[in-house]
Parts: sequence; structure tokens; C-alpha cells
Amino acid sequence: MEKNEVRLEDLPGIGPATAEKLMEAGYSSIEAIAVASPADLVATAEVGDATAAKIIQAAREAADIGGFESGDKVFERRKLVGKLTTGSKALDELLNGGIETQSITEFYGEFGCGKTQIAHQLAVNVQLPESEGGLNGSAAIIDTENTFRPERIAQMAKGVGLDPEEALKNIHVARAYNSNHQILLVEKVSELANNLINSEKPIRLLIIDSLTAHFRAEYVGRGTLADRQQKLNKHLHEVLRFADLNNAVAMVTNQVQAKPDAFFGDPTKPIGGHVLGHTATFRLYLRKSKGDKRIARLLDSPHLPDGEAVITVTTEGIRD
Ligand SMILES: Nc1ncnc2c1ncn2[C@@H]1O[C@H](COP(=O)(O)OP(=O)(O)OP(=O)(O)O)[C@@H](O)[C@H]1O
Ligand SMILES: [Mg+2]
Repeated sequence: MEKNEVRLEDLPGIGPATAEKLMEAGYSSIEAIAVASPADLVATAEVGDATAAKIIQAAREAADIGGFESGDKVFERRKLVGKLTTGSKALDELLNGGIETQSITEFYGEFGCGKTQIAHQLAVNVQLPESEGGLNGSAAIIDTENTFRPERIAQMAKGVGLDPEEALKNIHVARAYNSNHQILLVEKVSELANNLINSEKPIRLLIIDSLTAHFRAEYVGRGTLADRQQKLNKHLHEVLRFADLNNAVAMVTNQVQAKPDAFFGDPTKPIGGHVLGHTATFRLYLRKSKGDKRIARLLDSPHLPDGEAVITVTTEGIRD
């Protein structure tokens, strides 16, 4: 798979000053420019209409997006799709073998239903060889709620027979302090992935736990709903692109709340609504059951039937 190392300054029409203005306005990658409108660039980077159009065209070519691909090429890429075990056979079966690479999988549900537990488990499992359901890679976690726990990783590593210290070395964690920072960290992950691409453990898993918490906290009031959705949507497309380019699993979590909320509407619907629904390729709704049991329900998959699996959260990790 081809890697893109083009910088803003490399595009025709973008000098260092323009690059800086674009960066300040949030256009930090050629992909972001490729999907921008000329009017946006005119307003933010103080360039003329013709230059804006030229910059966008160049960004589109460099980013290689927005074109058609023949079905056999899509099929070739699909053949490379890897599957990552969740630790539960029932859940793996529901997902037809595990969580797919080149997709975004969203786990949503109320507090304490096990989203963060599953995230930790995947960060461990991704390191396993393919024969054991792993992807022989390392993990990157964007932690927005400060819920990453190395101690928990150590427990789960032991549970699958990995050395806890080694397992921790193969997990790269970054705290995201707000939604802009969170968006920026996806780019940082791309850089990290590029650096590790030829290493023993390339990045094969990106976790964002939680995807929506910052957006939810920052965008309050109806007037900002469209802004939030647009930003979230763009963010998710960057995540999907990362998953595609690195043949990686992208796992995101999303909370639903037990208490109804005027702004976020139906309490049983995940935050982000249907914009997220169309981008997340697999959506799993988690709910609490008796004791340490949790029920995972698969919804709206493009090629798998809907269904449910019961999982257990144990000290060793996620099990049947
Ligand atoms: N060491 C452990 N052994 C067994 N079960 C554990 C352990 N640690 C956590 N759990 C279980 O996981 C639950 C917490 O789940 P988790 O933190 O994944 O929820 P969440 O879905 O991420 O919630 P939130 O929306 O608040 O982030 C605990 O209530 C407990 O049942
Ligand atoms: Mg959590």
C-alpha cells in the first residue's frame, strides 16, 4: 500500500506563509484540503479564487481521493482484510471471525458496559500472531477520558500468554485534551505508523476511547449541532483512511446515556446519530446483563446478519 508523505508546502501555490495560515485554520493535511471548498480556502488562507482551485486540485491528486476504482481492485484490497479476535468466540463468530481491518467498528452503550474493557483487550490481542487471532502488530490508543490502565493491560496480557512488559511496549497511548487535539492525534498516529511500518510490530489497531465525549462536551446548544456533526464526520473519514492505508482495525467507543437529554435526543441512540452510523462500518450495541455478562448486538452491517452474542468480562479479560 502506498504511503503519502506530501506536505502542504509541497503543493503548488502554497508557500510557507499560506501553509501556516491553512494549518492555523485546521487544514493540517493534504486530505483536509482535498475535500475543502475553494471558498473555504479563500476565506481562511487569503488566497485568490484561482489559486484556491489550483491548490485543491493538486491536493486531490496528491491525496489520491475522490476517484473511481474498478471492482476487482476493491476485491484485491478486500482480500487483505485481517480479523482481530475479541477474546470471545461468540462475539468473533457474530463478526464472522473477528473485528475487520480497513473498517471502523463502533462499540456503543451506557457507562460500565465494557467498552473500555474491550478496547484494552484488543490492544493486547492485536499483538498476537495471526494463528492466534492477532495481527502481529502494535496498537495506538487515543484516550479522551483518561481511562487507559496499564495494570489492566498486564492482567489481560497474562491472560493470553504475553509478557506484560512487552505488551505495554507495543501500546502507544496519547491523551486527547479536546476535540481539536483528538483530530490532530489521528495525524500523529499516521506519522507513528509510517515510522513503524517496517518494524516487527507495525500499527494495526487504532482505538479512540471515547470518540464522542469531547464533541459532546464542547458542542452544546442546537445551533452548533451541524458544526459538530460535520467535524465528527470529517474526523471519522480520517480514521477510516488510516485504517485503509495501514490495513488496520479502527475501534471507537461511544456512550449512550440512561438519562434522556434534550440536546442529544433519544437516550438509546448513540451520540453522533446517523452521521456516525453511516461511517462506522460495524456497530455493536453493548448492554449489561447479569453479573459480569454483557450482551453485544451487531447492527446494520453491510454484509453480516444482525445478531447477538453474550460475553463475559473477567480478570483475564474478555471471554465467552
Ligand atoms: N479487573 C477487572 N476484572 C473484572 N472485571 C472488570 C475489571 N475491571 C473492570 N471490570 C468490569 O468492567 C466494568 C467497567 O467497564 P468499562 O470501563 O469498559 O465501561 P465503559 O463502557 O467503558 O464505560 P464508560 O462509558 O463509563 O466509559 C466494571 O464495572 C467491571 O464490571
Ligand atoms: Mg470507558
